[in-house]
Amino acid sequence: MSVEPRAGIDLALHHVGVRFGGLVALDDVSLRVPPGRIVGVIGPNGAGKTTLFNVVCGFVPPTSGTLTLDGAAFRPRPHRLTRLGVARTLQGVGLFPGLSVLENVLAGASHTARAGFATALLGLPGSDRDERRLREEARALLAELGVERYAGAAPGTLPYATRKRVALARALIARPRLLLLDEPAGGLGADDIAELAALVTTLPDRAHGTCSVMLVEHHMDLVMSVCHEIVVLDFGRVVAVGTPAQIRDDPLVTEAYLGAEVPPRPTGVGPAS
Ligand SMILES: Nc1ncnc2c1ncn2[C@@H]1O[C@H](COP(=O)(O)OP(=O)(O)O)[C@@H](O)[C@H]1O
Ligand SMILES: [Mg+2]
Repeated sequence: MSVEPRAGIDLALHHVGVRFGGLVALDDVSLRVPPGRIVGVIGPNGAGKTTLFNVVCGFVPPTSGTLTLDGAAFRPRPHRLTRLGVARTLQGVGLFPGLSVLENVLAGASHTARAGFATALLGLPGSDRDERRLREEARALLAELGVERYAGAAPGTLPYATRKRVALARALIARPRLLLLDEPAGGLGADDIAELAALVTTLPDRAHGTCSVMLVEHHMDLVMSVCHEIVVLDFGRVVAVGTPAQIRDDPLVTEAYLGAEVPPRPTGVGPAS
């Protein structure tokens, strides 16, 4: 029996605000991640990217505004995400140190698949086939991400970039319809980022159906190279939305995003020319 291909989820935030005491971390943020699209959320440090990510994962309740999934009211709870078809990877890696790479990926299996996995662990009848299928799928994912040879390794022995791939495999085994990535390029070198970019572009069109991707990322080049659409945050507000080309040419974005690191003015414009 083949698995029905599933369509990507349509995620929307409507006028979302988050306050931490007197601090406004998000202010009237509306954005949409349409089915099968890769939407990037960028902005300087402190812009509210992680807070936005945490709102969608259910770690931070919005102080105002609402969210919808496929048009229906969505009140995210971290433990319910997988069942709704939402998977995430966190800033950093967060693998279980006591489990092998393969076991870490199996731990990310979806609600129903995990029930099968638990049954398998308990040695109950009828579960062998489920467990074998799941293990095959986990291995296939590790192979797809180029890290199959580490299946039996302890995560702690592996390079950081490899662990990040394992974490991605763990998110993907749940066959998400929406994948949330928080700063996947963090801590990676230029080569690893280029490989990551190639990988991310393949995510929406995986064999079993369409997946939408929300990519929260400080790294401008990665976002520019993989996203269909980009949302720019600054001081908790959306300051621009557009295609990578539109965003690149938006002076507001340059100002917001590069505010802290504006290159020296060309000669003739500065005060001391
Ligand atoms: N749990 C929290 N309590 C209080 N302030 C917070 C909390 N989380 C984030 N902030 C503040 O909210 C703002 C946005 O932070 P964050 O979402 O982490 O930005 P980014 O990920 O874009 O760097 C910052 O001023 C930060 O200090
Ligand atoms: Mg952050």
